[in-house]
Amino acid sequence: RVYKRQMRCRSDIDRLDDAFIAIVKSLIPAEEEKAKQQQLLTLLEKLIIKEWPKARLYLYGSCANSFGVSKSDVDLCLVMEEADVNKAEVLLKLADILQSDNLQNVQALTRARVPIVKLMDPSTGISCDICINNVLAVVNTRLLRDYARIDVRLRQLAFIVKHWAKSRGVNETYQGTLSSYAYVLMCIHFLQQRRPAILPCLQGMEATYSVTVDNIGCAYFDQVEKLSDFRSHNKETVAQLVWGFFNYWAYCHDYTDSVISVRTGSIISKREKDWTRRIGNDRHLICIEDPFEISHDLGRVVDKHSIRVLREEFERAAEIMQYDPNPCVKLFEPY
Ligand code: GTP
Ligand code: MG
Repeated sequence: RVYKRQMRCRSDIDRLDDAFIAIVKSLIPAEEEKAKQQQLLTLLEKLIIKEWPKARLYLYGSCANSFGVSKSDVDLCLVMEEADVNKAEVLLKLADILQSDNLQNVQALTRARVPIVKLMDPSTGISCDICINNVLAVVNTRLLRDYARIDVRLRQLAFIVKHWAKSRGVNETYQGTLSSYAYVLMCIHFLQQRRPAILPCLQGMEATYSVTVDNIGCAYFDQVEKLSDFRSHNKETVAQLVWGFFNYWAYCHDYTDSVISVRTGSIISKREKDWTRRIGNDRHLICIEDPFEISHDLGRVVDKHSIRVLREEFERAAEIMQYDPNPCVKLFEPY
């Protein structure tokens, strides 16, 4: 039954495709918003350099990986020279500096899993989180951005999937569902294993970019403008890919044995990773390998309850894509 499912008829798909592309367009941030983010970054850089002349501030997350919808929070990473700074101390000092410069809602969360300072810029209304020395996040942001440059359909698919996840309440890691970062990796994996493939495996190619961060070698082919040939072989539309994506996660993924791995461009087995049983709080019920921190399962937050919620949502979305007369409305209906 599973493999016989076919997408709707041709004219139906074309109509749907226009509707999905219109949704994507409505989500893309305006140039004006990008300029405001840049303005805030410049202001913060100035304040930071005064106190820590050798520090650098990097944009990461959705504002820099090209998967950000409009009105996203800005994620910033402050990189200090010494690797083993006392983060709490720096964050408290930073909060002080920001407060004295009239930034609003300044809050240092020194005990969070990723300690941050939160703030809001009253002149632009932009909210922002600043973390310290989280260089891996800066590097994985770059990888995601480079994948997005290869084929426009990745960004389109990921916008739809993120919009769906937010509308359906399954983009909440504190409730056991998945992060935006995890959803983008799921989209990249999906396009890598499409036949013909829509995305290559950049980490499987000759490395043209290479850094070592926290003892982890991060290397991949980043001259993606040279991959223009790649584009031509697969002609699937965004609507077909959205259908395929939900169909894959609803009916085709092997939740018992499989780990999706963007790093290898394939599926690997849970046995190979020793992710077959619960270890501490990591249950490995849906397995998404981080491309660089390979011992890290982005599905670790998912528990017995939330895996059911997630799989029911994938099935709901797959059924809507298959049968609903107006999937572009139904898919994003608030839960
Ligand atoms: P939105 O804010 O929802 O638009 O998406 P986002 O792309 O900013 O995603 P998210 O808030 O999930 O994460 C922000 C960034 O943190 C990601 O782009 C990654 O670079 C990084 N990140 C998030 N979760 C992890 C994680 O578990 N491990 C690592 N290494 N990096 C992570
Ligand atoms: Mg973010």
